[in-house]
Amino acid sequence: MEFKTKRIFVSFLSSFMVVLPLYLNKPFETNFKPFSIKFASIEDQIIIEVTMKVLKTILLLGLVVAISPIAKANIGVFDEVWQNRAEKAKKAAQIAYEPNPENVTNNLNSQTHKVLEGYNNTRRGLGKYRGPCLATNPIDRCWRCDPNWARNRKKLAECVLGFGRKTTGGKAGRFYVVTDPSDNDMVNPKPGTLRHAVIQKGPLWITFAHDMVIRLNQELIMTSNKTIDGRGADVHFFNGAQITLQFIQNVIIHGIHIRGSVPANGGMIRDSVDHYGFRTRSDGDGISIFGSHNIWIDHVSMSKCSDGLIDVIQASTAITISNCHFTYHNDVLLFGGSDSYSDDKVMQVTVAFNHFGKGLVQRMPRVRWGFVHVVNNDYTHWLMYAIGGSKNPTILSQGNRFIAPDINACKEVTKRDYAPKSEWKSWNWRSDNDLMMNGAFFVQSGGPIASINSYNVVKAKPGTYASRLTRLSGALNCIEGKPC
Ligand SMILES: *[C@@H]1O[C@H](CO)[C@@H](O)[C@H](O)[C@H]1NC(C)=O
Ligand SMILES: *[C@@H]1O[C@H](CO)[C@@H](O)[C@H](O)[C@H]1NC(C)=O
Ligand SMILES: *[C@@H]1O[C@H](CO)[C@@H](O)[C@H](O)[C@H]1NC(C)=O
Repeated sequence: MEFKTKRIFVSFLSSFMVVLPLYLNKPFETNFKPFSIKFASIEDQIIIEVTMKVLKTILLLGLVVAISPIAKANIGVFDEVWQNRAEKAKKAAQIAYEPNPENVTNNLNSQTHKVLEGYNNTRRGLGKYRGPCLATNPIDRCWRCDPNWARNRKKLAECVLGFGRKTTGGKAGRFYVVTDPSDNDMVNPKPGTLRHAVIQKGPLWITFAHDMVIRLNQELIMTSNKTIDGRGADVHFFNGAQITLQFIQNVIIHGIHIRGSVPANGGMIRDSVDHYGFRTRSDGDGISIFGSHNIWIDHVSMSKCSDGLIDVIQASTAITISNCHFTYHNDVLLFGGSDSYSDDKVMQVTVAFNHFGKGLVQRMPRVRWGFVHVVNNDYTHWLMYAIGGSKNPTILSQGNRFIAPDINACKEVTKRDYAPKSEWKSWNWRSDNDLMMNGAFFVQSGGPIASINSYNVVKAKPGTYASRLTRLSGALNCIEGKPC
């Protein structure tokens, strides 16, 4: 989502359209009398409670939107609960920030080297290679070849590399099996549904009992310390609202399909066991990461959403997006939603081993302010450009394969927005060991990445390996008892 005045106005209007009918119908239909509350049925009490919230919302909404529409996007009433969450998230982002990003980029690269060497060694030296596990990148290699992956699901939490490397998701918690794909009650979600799972307190490892298609009625508001693990089932999020990670930490999303996400009007939505509140319209991103950190998105297949496939905004950091397969979409990955929001300087994101495939147009990613390590991805299609940005972001592009489209005007991998060359020439955008095909070219700028000279820079595995490293991107078809 990019913040534009027009959109905020539209969202303000649309939220009113939601509130108004609620306000007009509910209270008068139910003989609402404040003094008879204790005699009311449970159903009436719920309606009364909701009515109170709606009334409060109407009073506060105008105020909140007028004060600061940007920092509180989608939150209708920025009450103490949300204020508290926002404050905590801001502090936690500073802690999650890595002052030596080169340590993280170097570590990922050396792990990749090791796996590719090990692959040869295992085969020849030990003579025990059972094949055909084709896990060739270090994240996959950590768990995928284990035929007992289904019994060792939480092993996955040890496998993340890159800036999201401290993410453990629901590792410390129990399992929650989603059995019911429905999503009908936003305030009191039914046990067995995903919406019920993601609001639970404490860490939780969420799996799926069987194949299912989930159409989210409103944005799915997640809480901290959760894993959504789609392995072993074919789980499709289809034509529904977005998944929202707002002011939270420590989430793994793995092995699902997200297609056709659409905007939703908002309304009352529960965001934790203890709290629900009014939400304005959501954008229709695939996944929206907002003021959140320690997030790992792995092996997710995404296409055709209304807004971005993944948005990383509002000082989110410590994020890894890996092994995903992206197709048929215009604005693919947006990191930093506003040229005026300099708090995004804290943003550090790793984009590794993904396949940017058919039908993509631009923003893979588009970056503001932060530091992005784009490594060993396979870019087989784009229509306008691959990597773009504004506001002096740092981009370290290593070991990717870039295949330019046939259109002559679109061979350039990079695109700088809203700045003359005199300004962007000092932005650190570096390409190292990338493989350029069909006339692709990367316009570098700035010097070598900031403090990288003080370390032994580990070169990435070259771009010639990118297709091999990303061969099994997207949601996998994992079968119990077999390597995945
Ligand atoms: C980063 O790397 C430097 C140089 O190798 C090392 O001294 C430092 O301890 C590392 N920092 C972290 C946080 O790993
Ligand atoms: C594996 O070993 C062969 C033969 O020594 C070598 O040519 C090849 O490059 C090695 N592959 C990798 C991925 O290291
Ligand atoms: C998430 O887990 C961490 C580590 O156990 C804990 O410190 C934190 O309070 C948890 N957060 C929430 C919101 O439960």
